[in-house]
Amino acid sequence: MRAHVAAQTATFAEKLLDLVPAPPATMLDIGSGDGLIAWAAFSRWPYVNVTMTDISPALLLQAQAQAHSRNVASQCGFVLTNAETLAGVADSSQNLVTSRSALAYVADKPAAFRAALRVLRPGGIISIAEPLFRDQALSLNRLGQACAAMANPLAALLHRWQAAQFLDTSDALRANPIINYAEQDLFNFARQAGFQDVHLELHIDEQQAPPRDWETFCAMSPHPLAPSSAQILATRFSPAERKILEAAIRPRIEKGGFGTTSRMIYLRGRKAE
Ligand SMILES: C[S@@+](CC[C@H](N)C(=O)[O-])C[C@H]1O[C@@H](n2cnc3c(N)ncnc32)[C@H](O)[C@@H]1O
Repeated sequence: MRAHVAAQTATFAEKLLDLVPAPPATMLDIGSGDGLIAWAAFSRWPYVNVTMTDISPALLLQAQAQAHSRNVASQCGFVLTNAETLAGVADSSQNLVTSRSALAYVADKPAAFRAALRVLRPGGIISIAEPLFRDQALSLNRLGQACAAMANPLAALLHRWQAAQFLDTSDALRANPIINYAEQDLFNFARQAGFQDVHLELHIDEQQAPPRDWETFCAMSPHPLAPSSAQILATRFSPAERKILEAAIRPRIEKGGFGTTSRMIYLRGRKAE
């Protein structure tokens, strides 16, 4: 599963970099984690200088260790700062700002776009890739209503499980930064911050799920702010309900081959010359 997820995130990183029109001399990655985007950038642009920023000191340390082992430490900088301010990064210092699945966590996304604009040089590019979970949450909301109407006990249990991961009440939806935005919102935030020539692509892809063992499936969650299935099963269902759910789902998970949908928003913009 680790390899499967790594292959998928590598695809997102490559697509985000494909949207960059010319090799940058300097780039800054927001919410860099352990450096996925930076390492992909070095494979394309060996002379680029990369500033990795994150709010996690542990992840920045991991990225730093990897920069050494990849022999690119002299071209890397590491700044412990949040996306909302990018404090500690000089104005107009970057040719490119990137971010992959990091702005999704930020409650004040308009502030993050303004900070990105601030650190870009005139003519600089922003290119980001963020997941879209809102559609899934909204359809879950409708599913919940349908389940209630059908009075189908298994469907109701499945809905309770999914609702614990995707939040299906309107208030919870609005309050959760990873779920409460649509592609049009990111487009508007970029425009309102002052980016020009904003281009957005929404990629919706269906993939066949690989076979997974039950423990691996239970240890995972569909997005990082959701509890794992194991936690949900343990805390929100009675032993009898757990038995019904496992009997219904486990064979499907172990066999794989059913369609799963990923929704990814790619956005590129330019700071005025
Ligand atoms: C899903 S990981 C993505 C990491 C990396 N961008 C990648 O593509 O592998 C999300 C990252 O965003 C960081 N993050 C969360 N909230 C943040 C914030 N407000 N400002 C900056 N980084 C943040 C986390 O620490 C984490 O490293």
